[in-house]
Amino acid sequence: DYGLMSYDPAFTNTASTKSAITYLDGDEGILRYRGYPIEQLAEKSTHLETAYLILNGELPTASQLSNWETEIKKHWFIHENIKHLIDAFRHDAHPMGMFISAVGASSSFHPESAQIFDPAIRNEQIVRLISEVPTIAAFSYRHIRGLPVVYPDDELSYAGNFLSMMFRRSELRYKPNPVLERALDVLFILHADHEQNCSTNTMRAIGSAHADPYVALAGAAAALYGPLHGGANEAVVRMLTKIGSTKNIPAFIESVKKGEGKLMGFGHRVYKNFDPRGKIVKQLAYEVFEVTGRNPLLDVALELERIALEDEYFISRKLYPNVDFYSGLIYQAMGLPTPFFPVLFAIPRTVGWLAQWVELLNDPEQKIARPRQLYVGEPERDYAPISER
Ligand code: SDX
Repeated sequence: DYGLMSYDPAFTNTASTKSAITYLDGDEGILRYRGYPIEQLAEKSTHLETAYLILNGELPTASQLSNWETEIKKHWFIHENIKHLIDAFRHDAHPMGMFISAVGASSSFHPESAQIFDPAIRNEQIVRLISEVPTIAAFSYRHIRGLPVVYPDDELSYAGNFLSMMFRRSELRYKPNPVLERALDVLFILHADHEQNCSTNTMRAIGSAHADPYVALAGAAAALYGPLHGGANEAVVRMLTKIGSTKNIPAFIESVKKGEGKLMGFGHRVYKNFDPRGKIVKQLAYEVFEVTGRNPLLDVALELERIALEDEYFISRKLYPNVDFYSGLIYQAMGLPTPFFPVLFAIPRTVGWLAQWVELLNDPEQKIARPRQLYVGEPERDYAPISER
């Protein structure tokens, strides 16, 4: 009988949980990056400006923002051999597998990135990763579709260039629809960081071993890929597609109550009232559908949300829509294939992963992540010869 051992935080010795980047209040549904409410940033900022804030702690001046945007555009191209690596995948490979592989492989293209305590080298890798992840994502998409890649266009915004690399179909310069470009930029803002979530914890754990940022970020993306985490936006659309119509919702709800599956896009480790990002994404969906046409799955999603929010099973378990419940409907309406949705999460979360990684490295008290355990196995015993087993 091991008795109940109380968990002393020092005992766990996991990656540091002291952070000044993002503040969450799960009961009040509050999310702030460096003190700024997510609602204000979603309305007034851009992804690159918010990225600067998350990484540097302050909103940039006009000249700081201009220099930052110029730096990011400088590294939009990826090494042609990374493109060849992407080309080596089957046409039906999952884009998250391609993303994780390409980011991890980039470590070998930048051996200098192992010098993680050299500020100039570290900052260059941060800029490279934020710049290159949309290109890796878009090149993966074009490979899956059997289309030639579209190279970056530095006349466009961060979101606009991504849409161009994804959807440009002629030699003519791609003109992104301003509503879709803005919607994607807002989604990037909403997904940029989220405190000590599973993938960020992975980034911190790998970073605490002083590995380079490319392999650490590949590990974080691998954690995000899970359907309980960033893979949920893909799982939501698959769930809504399977339900098919509002008349099938009661049977689906019953199956969830019987434990036959989860209501994907609902529930959260921290938010136990509502996810403030979910409210903004839902509003964004209506704006996008004005341009793309209404996603027929929206009616299923709205009715499923309405029924679940009135059902004791979900209320008693504090299950509410999270950021993933409506985001996939927007990506689908934009013409993105379902498996691609977690990649749309990984692109902006690259900012948060890197900011949290830098914070960890700058923390003088940070040790290597080494959680301890409560041993509940066999007491000591002697080896038994095989004839006696
Ligand atoms: C993200 O951490 C972050 O910040 C993550 C994230 C970020 O930005 O990084 O916000 C992004 O990952 C959002 C979450 C996306 N995942 C999903 O939508 C998948 C569906 N959700 C669940 O798998 C679940 O809600 C989690 C994983 C999100 C949270 O799981 P918890 O905290 O383990 O849930 P819980 O222990 O609080 O659950 C309490 C009860 C349990 O039932 P009982 O055993 O008490 O009977 O609620 C049930 C759970 O089984 N439950 C669900 C459910 N989520 C929890 N039942 C049905 N459907 C669900 N979605």
